[in-house]
Amino acid sequence: MKYAHIVGWGAYLPKKVLTNDDIALMVETSDEWIYTRTGIRERRIAGEKETTATLAFEGAARALAVADIHPSQVDLIVVATSTPEYIFPSTASRVQDYLGAHRAGAFDLSAACSGFVYGLDMAAQAIATGSIKIAIVIGAETLSRVMDWEDRGTCILFGDGAGAVVLKGSSVPGGLLSSTLRSDGSGGELLTLPAVYHNPVPMLGPEYLQNGHGDNTIKMNGREVFRFATKVVSDSIEVVVQKAGLTLDDVDLIVPHQANTRIIEAVAKRLKLPMDKFFLNIEQAGNTSAASIPIALVDAIHAGRLHPDDNVVFVGFGGGLTWAAGVIKWDVTPPQVSLADREWQRARYIWARLRSRIRKLSRRIGARLLGSPTPEASLRDVEKRGKGARVQGGKGERD
Ligand code: UT7
Repeated sequence: MKYAHIVGWGAYLPKKVLTNDDIALMVETSDEWIYTRTGIRERRIAGEKETTATLAFEGAARALAVADIHPSQVDLIVVATSTPEYIFPSTASRVQDYLGAHRAGAFDLSAACSGFVYGLDMAAQAIATGSIKIAIVIGAETLSRVMDWEDRGTCILFGDGAGAVVLKGSSVPGGLLSSTLRSDGSGGELLTLPAVYHNPVPMLGPEYLQNGHGDNTIKMNGREVFRFATKVVSDSIEVVVQKAGLTLDDVDLIVPHQANTRIIEAVAKRLKLPMDKFFLNIEQAGNTSAASIPIALVDAIHAGRLHPDDNVVFVGFGGGLTWAAGVIKWDVTPPQVSLADREWQRARYIWARLRSRIRKLSRRIGARLLGSPTPEASLRDVEKRGKGARVQGGKGERD
């Protein structure tokens, strides 16, 4: 079972569309500038009740439906994201709960826009060793929540969304043929998104925020990231194609991270490949970071750009700095799933939510019976202690 094949795929984009013209009402820019410099016309913005985990769930549920796989068969869920709601519980654990994938392990993976390809490699290796058989790899982001909406250098680029694939082990050669994962941390400051400061601990107080901390928005040196991207994308495509024992002529489609059309044009020129070897959907989706490759993959499939036995290259790059590429032999014919089956699959998720609620309730009742504090009481206690610490800190400074 050592070959990891993609047997299902799914994507979800929130309903709300934010056009370049909408952004031009917020910062000094124009549709013409954004489109000619990036290739983007519009992006999607998550609704108030949507989170990275709910978007990821939608993508994963669709991917399982295509694969006709029951959530209980899933061994591992990997979510590549830079915008988790919590450091823990991980987004992947929330998705595991929403899906009712009760046999699955789950973890988040942080490799910025390269995260999906990193996740694909990790899951495929776990399949190759025989440790697992079925994995869901998801890229999901709500970047609109970490945007500085006054910075026209970044807020024009990013959007929200999620995409997922189901990987399944098989003894039939194919699937992920090769991959390369790389990082250069010395360039980390070129593209940053601070964590932890999101909800500063009460002890640190407002002075901490005034010292420049607490701004958890994306900062980017666009020009430098652009230069880095054109080089590493072309190099890693060459490396990964060679590793797979192929040549560039054998590649049928390249699905790159959707950051900027001009980056892909520069890569195409470097590799002497026609632009139609690259699939782009950046015009409608913008840059959705870790989600961009699986969302583009799904769009490519719907556009009829993938055929049996095609060699497909995924290539991601971004914060870290990180970059990664993989070659997939596209060899799957998805099973025909009837409408009734799909309805039945949806019903499963209603049951999964219900079961999760029952578990929460039984945990609460168990805690009461044992006399241990409920999660709500623990939270109240932490808040009370936090207030006390702040008062003490204030006194210390006056002394
Ligand atoms: O997914 C993570 C990886 N991220 C990327 O790959 C992003 C890579 N970088 C880029 O895509 C591009 O660098 C940007 C699209 C972010 C910027 O395009 P650029 O062609 O590199 O512009 P620039 O930063 O060199 O700025 C050129 C000019 C500047 O004006 P001056 O100093 O020449 O007068 C900017 O102030 O364009 C100005 N500018 C804008 N003008 C109108 C920058 N942003 C905007 C804007 N609208 N939104």
